[in-house]
This record gives sequence, structure tokens and C-alpha cells, in this order.
Amino acid sequence: MTNAVFLSLGFGAAACFLQCAPASAADVAAGKAKAAGCAVCHGENGISRTPLVPSLAGEPDDFTQWQLVYFRSGTRKSEVMEPIAKPLDNDQIRNLGAYFASLPPPKPPDAPPDALALTGGKLAAQQRCSSCHGEDYAGIGPTARLAGQREDVLLKALRDFKSGARVGSGVASMADVVYGLSDSDMQALAHYMAAHP
Ligand code: HEC
Ligand code: HEC
Repeated sequence: MTNAVFLSLGFGAAACFLQCAPASAADVAAGKAKAAGCAVCHGENGISRTPLVPSLAGEPDDFTQWQLVYFRSGTRKSEVMEPIAKPLDNDQIRNLGAYFASLPPPKPPDAPPDALALTGGKLAAQQRCSSCHGEDYAGIGPTARLAGQREDVLLKALRDFKSGARVGSGVASMADVVYGLSDSDMQALAHYMAAHP
């Protein structure tokens, strides 16, 4: 079974848990109100200016929802996010997902790629990152947007997948991806993705 098939089967069943249950439609305005408390760290309009805190603006709806579910259950470890996610109910998570997805994504400065970004771009093509993260690395469904994300956040995520500190979906897709990557490969990839429009 290929990775892609395995992934879609895994998420197909999992996505039903959030979406196939009779549920009220997401309320973006309620999500925005709830997100007021997130802005201290994640920034106004979901664009982070804080080291090691991800931007959330323009993340796929399902991605944000799933990460909040993983923090809530403790599947994804974070001393900061676990207590914040614990009290959220499914409706609040659905509204937050819809709100952040509605915001314009971070826009990196328009600059020609430097040598490290060129290396990162080659690696990204070889590793077919876009097969899961989508054209232009904008993210699809439960898979994160990478384009324009903070470089320190991207590098930490890759290192956490490599060390096993971050597990997430349990489908092991990212664990397989980082298995063959060196730390300098991950630095180049993070640099490339952060600068990608
Ligand atoms: C005190 C600071 C702080 C606050 C407040 C906060 N977060 Fe976070 N959040 C973080 C940090 C730090 C991480 C990165 C955790 C890691 O390194 O794995 C994170 C990660 C996330 C992620 C994962 C994003 C990704 O790209 O991996 C989501 C989703 C998220 N937070 C949503 C929220 C929401 C929704 C709120 C408000 C209800 C919120 N956060 C409030 C600090 C905060
Ligand atoms: C087989 C599908 C697949 C491929 C190929 C893939 N990814 Fe991922 N990636 C995922 C999924 C699914 C997630 C969300 C994982 C989770 O739930 O924690 C993810 C998450 C990430 C994250 C964390 C983002 C965040 O904000 O939390 C980074 C960084 C990342 N991938 C980088 C890459 C890079 C770089 C490549 C190519 C070298 C790549 N991925 C290839 C499926 C894939």
C-alpha cells in the first residue's frame, strides 16, 4: 500500500469523527471571539511574531481542528497548548478551525531565493512534499500549510518528527518523510518553505 493511499484511508475514517457526526455548521464569528485569547501568542490575525509560535492564518480548517484535538488528548505534547486545548469542546474547535482558515495566510517578503532556499527547493521536489502539502505548499485537509510559516517553527516541527517528540495523527507520514533527512536538509527545507509565497 502506498503512503498516499494509507494516509487517505487513515484520515478518511478519522475525519468522519469530526465531520460525519450530526453537528452544527461552524460559526466563524464565534471562532473569532474565542480566538481573542490566542492572539497574545499567535499574533493579530493569526500571524505570529513570536519565536517558536506558529502562524495559524490560512491553515486548512481540518489541520487546525486536528491539532487542537491532538493537544486536547495529549497525543501532541506541548506544555503550553495542552492546558489551552483541554477545556475546548468540539464546537469551539470547529469554530476556531473555520476562523483561522478564513484569514489571509502570512506573506513572506518578495525576495529572490538565496543558496539555502535553492537547496531546500530541490529537496522539496525530490521528496515530493507537495504530494501531501498541496500545490504551493498551501496545505490540504489535515495536512499543514508550510508556505510562509515561521522558519523556526518549521525546523522545530521537522526535528520533533525526527526525534519522535511529535506524533500527531499516528499515521506516521511525517516520521517516514524525515527518516532519511539530515539536520542540514531540514534546515534547508524550513528556510525554503518559510520564504515560499
Ligand atoms: C501562551 C501562548 C499560547 C497561547 C495563548 C495559544 N497558543 Fe497555540 N501554540 C503555542 C505554541 C508555543 C505552539 C507550538 C507548540 C509546539 O512547538 O509543538 C502552539 C501551537 C498551536 C497549534 C499548532 C499549529 C501548528 O502549525 O502546528 C494550534 C492549532 C494552536 N496552537 C492553536 C491555538 C488556539 C486556537 C489558541 C487559543 C484558543 C492558542 N493556540 C493559544 C502557544 C500558544
Ligand atoms: C505522505 C504525506 C506527507 C508528505 C510526503 C510530507 N508531509 Fe509534512 N505533514 C503531513 C501531515 C499529515 C502533517 C500533519 C501531521 C500531524 O498531524 O502532526 C504534516 C506536517 C508537517 C509539518 C508540521 C507543520 C505544522 O505547522 O505543524 C511540517 C513542517 C512538514 N509536514 C514538512 C514537510 C516537508 C518539508 C515535506 C517534504 C520533505 C513533507 N512535510 C512531506 C504529511 C506529509
